[in-house]
This record gives sequence, structure tokens and C-alpha cells, in this order.
Amino acid sequence: MSKVIAFAGKGGVGKTTVASLVIRYMGKVDKGPILAVDADPNSNLGETLGHDVISTIGDIRENYMKDPQGVPSGMDKVNYLETLVEQALVEHPAYDLLVMGRQEGQGCYCMVNNILNSFTDKLSAHYKYMVVDNEAGMEHLSRRTSGEVDMLFLVTDYSLRGLRAVSRINSMLESLKLNVKNIAIVVSRGPETLSEPFMKEVEEIGLPIGGIIPNDPALLEFDMEQRSLIELPDDSISVTAVHKLMDEYCPN
Ligand SMILES: Nc1ncnc2c1ncn2[C@@H]1O[C@H](COP(=O)(O)OP(=O)(O)O)[C@@H](O)[C@H]1O
Ligand SMILES: [Mg+2]
Repeated sequence: MSKVIAFAGKGGVGKTTVASLVIRYMGKVDKGPILAVDADPNSNLGETLGHDVISTIGDIRENYMKDPQGVPSGMDKVNYLETLVEQALVEHPAYDLLVMGRQEGQGCYCMVNNILNSFTDKLSAHYKYMVVDNEAGMEHLSRRTSGEVDMLFLVTDYSLRGLRAVSRINSMLESLKLNVKNIAIVVSRGPETLSEPFMKEVEEIGLPIGGIIPNDPALLEFDMEQRSLIELPDDSISVTAVHKLMDEYCPN
């Protein structure tokens, strides 16, 4: 089974950024084959990694549902869907990327979902690590990982509101039947020293602060230039902060 590193938190706090930098770290320290999974329908992990993503699992599902008879002759539907998933997999020397895309609409999706889920499960078994960028609800995570998560980073900005979202997600874990082995808070765009009211709220949540990623102007620059965060220089402050985080928290 691959080791699962997952990210969750409220929208806009920095999950996709930290996930991209973690993928960058994994490539640099040569952690072995990595599957990056973009499991947030509103997300852009593909963009921050510098890809124009063409096909998502959601697109495959919707297109199939629109025209179930459209399977090419000589192929059965399982082979056909599996081929489409293989084509949707974006390959990069440091990782492969799978984008889940939009969630299903109305209708009976069981059959197509079963085929897609069992194939993505089979596929993920080929990787040593899976890095999953999640939506706040984390439904994908329980579906995608048989509920086993080795490291969950709950990302927040430097605000009490962000921390409260962390607290809500933390209390949802049990009902989602997720078995999380290790969990830590990551403060994105935080100061060097966290304020007392912030730390008081952290203590109430009862989770450790895994790391603080400082505000890094290079991230804005890369966004404007639409460059992959993989290409950030080694000495950028966000990169060094993520290295420190991963040296401590990367599951072996
Ligand atoms: N440490 C940081 N320093 C500067 N900008 C950041 C930092 N973390 C995130 N950002 C910026 O904030 C915005 C939202 O980040 P993103 O990672 O997409 O959040 P999320 O995935 O949680 O919605 C992006 O424009 C990103 O470049
Ligand atoms: Mg995101």
C-alpha cells in the first residue's frame, strides 16, 4: 500500500501551495514514485505544478454517462474507461498527477464509479506515496484511500477562523471513518512567533503545530508568471519551511 499524505483546510488558506511544495520536496529527496491527486473540484494543483490539465476523472464519468453506447467497438466498457483514466494521468519525471475534477451530477453512477474507483485503486498501488490535495469535506479522501491516511496536514492561514475550520475537520475525521496515523496543523503565511490567542485556540484543538510557512513573495511572482512551483529556488523561504516540515513529518 502506498503511504498517503493528505491536505485539508478551508478554501484559500494555502493547501494547494503546501501540497505542491511537498511534492517538490518528495522529488528532491527522491522518495520514489509519487502520485499527486487533485481531489478538490475547485482546485488547481495541476496549475501550480505547471500543467494544462485536459481530462479529469469527473469528465470521463460525465462523458460516459452522457453516451454509454459510445464505447468503441471491440472494447468492453471496463477497458474503455481504464484506457481513458490512463490517458488522463499526467506524467512528470518527479510525479504523476491525477485530477478528480467535478463531482457527479444526478443519476445512477454506481457502475461507472465502481469501475473508476477500482481502477484508480489499482493504479495507486504502483506508487510509494500518494499526495492528496482535498476539498474541505474530504469525501474523496475516505473513498480514495480505503480510509488509511499516514499523514494529514490541516492547513490554516494565520486567523482564528482558519483554526476553527481545522477544528471542525478534525472532529469530522471519526464520522468519515478515516484512520489517520499522524496529524499536524500547518500555518500558512504565519509570523515567526504565533500570538497568544492563536496558540490558546491551538491548545484547545489539541493538535501540534507541524510548521509555519512564511509569507513568500516568490509564490505571487510564480503565480503571475504561471510557473510551476516545482521550479522555485531551493532557498525560497516557503521551500525551506516545507523541507523542515517534511524532515520531521514525512512517513517512512
Ligand atoms: N506562504 C505563502 N506566501 C505567499 N502566498 C501564499 C502562501 N501560501 C499561499 N499563498 C497564495 O495564496 C493563494 C491561495 O493559496 P492556495 O494554495 O491555492 O490555497 P487553497 O488550496 O487552500 O485554496 C494563492 O494565490 C497562493 O499563491
Ligand atoms: Mg486548493
